[in-house]
Amino acid sequence: MGWTLAEILAATGGKVARPGKGSRYGEIVTDSKQVKRNSIFVALKGERHDAHRFVGDAVRRGAACAVIHRPLPAATLGGATAVRVGDTLRALGALAHYRREKLAPKVLAITGSNGKTTTKEMVAAILAQGRLDGRSLRGRVLKTEGNFNNLVGLPLTLLRLNKKHRVAVVELGTNFPGEIQRLAEIADPDIGIITSVAAAHLEGLKNLAGVAREKGALYRCVRPGGTIAVNLDDPWVRRLGAKFSGKKLTYGAAGQLRARGLRMRAARGMVFELHHGRQQTRIRLGYLGRHNVTNALGAAALALAAGVSLAAVRRGLSRAKPFTMRMQRENWRGIGILNDSYNANPGSMQAALETLALIGGRGKKIAVLGDMFELGKRSGKAHRELGRIAAQAKIAGLYLLGDQARQVRSGALRAGMKSDQVIVGSDHGEVAMRLRQQLRRGDWLLVKGSRGMKMEKVVQELKNV
Ligand SMILES: Nc1ncnc2c1ncn2[C@@H]1O[C@H](COP(=O)(O)OP(=O)(O)OP(=O)(O)O)[C@@H](O)[C@H]1O
Ligand SMILES: [Mg+2]
Repeated sequence: MGWTLAEILAATGGKVARPGKGSRYGEIVTDSKQVKRNSIFVALKGERHDAHRFVGDAVRRGAACAVIHRPLPAATLGGATAVRVGDTLRALGALAHYRREKLAPKVLAITGSNGKTTTKEMVAAILAQGRLDGRSLRGRVLKTEGNFNNLVGLPLTLLRLNKKHRVAVVELGTNFPGEIQRLAEIADPDIGIITSVAAAHLEGLKNLAGVAREKGALYRCVRPGGTIAVNLDDPWVRRLGAKFSGKKLTYGAAGQLRARGLRMRAARGMVFELHHGRQQTRIRLGYLGRHNVTNALGAAALALAAGVSLAAVRRGLSRAKPFTMRMQRENWRGIGILNDSYNANPGSMQAALETLALIGGRGKKIAVLGDMFELGKRSGKAHRELGRIAAQAKIAGLYLLGDQARQVRSGALRAGMKSDQVIVGSDHGEVAMRLRQQLRRGDWLLVKGSRGMKMEKVVQELKNV
């Protein structure tokens, strides 16, 4: 769609620090390697790199405008226009916000401690099956790619908006106080959901009340006349929702949207009846675990609030597929693997172990767990508690990796596991080797840990024979 210089200045409040050729530019990029002819290069200062150093490179590659927050020599800028702003990261958000307001799609924003990406993928799958104002939405829904949910990722997502888009589904993530508020200002959502409030990112947000305050910013920032989706089964979310005076769609056991008759379908997914007021429909979900049924209810609530039909919800949920390493079901020599190695915190560990316990059959259940990061002072206790929960899941073996492995082990032993059932491994390869000796056809393996633990390597090493 491109930008005029006047739009860039209006969006960012910046000044022309040095006029260049032309006043109409192409798309906005932050990575100099992605610059094309006539691009606008926004020079971000990250933790490791300051992209002001790459402005010269961007201009050589064809950038015609640079948005910067510190002066640069004329030689660096070449023929490009330089727009000076107070802070380029803020300017990137402002540009994204400008485009969002100009194109005015319906914006659905998703935050929460767990299940954001899953809910986002599910709602996008539903919308693709739906109609709005009598027209199909297929190909007209923009969604966050992967996990682009921070102060860089969200703007880059919204900057991909074009005239064909009727709906945007965006994920908002947070590590520090104030981030959701800013992301929500940028996205200006018509509909917002907080999937859950749980112990995650506690180093920045301190405790559950801090997490709730941070996530609560999304409900506060929903547009006037907008709708929020409220998970009544999460006490913190319920409380945040109660403070909201606008339109609400609730879900959970006592919600307007409810799942009844829930069961696991041959370790392939979940089946349930979705009730919405007097309407009901049967949902076949290709995801495992009760937590994913909760995510599906949240996705359904968002989609219904956006105006699509219950039939579209049914079709979309049956087509949605787990994102990589989120409870991804794999098979190796007749052994079922639940690869949930994308990330972990106490809530998601519990959900994953419950899912493992829910799988029927005669085979053994084994869990391979890595440390949960970012728990601050609560870390030791949370890992001992994890050991207890693992023991309750009736697993035959528990393999552990990481600095906190001994804490998990002590929790598991105290809760009744035998010492030879709980093994602290030295690395991924060693764990894979031991697993190969223990696993038999029909067994089930759960693999999970925080991102930095790279627990997927256990699965790779296991298959690598
Ligand atoms: N509703 C839920 N309750 C508890 N755990 C969940 C829930 N949904 C997903 N999880 C767990 O969280 C993991 C990550 O899922 P997902 O990527 O959807 O979450 P996210 O909120 O986007 O995470 P991130 O903060 O990394 O962006 C899953 O592998 C699963 O273990
Ligand atoms: Mg995510």
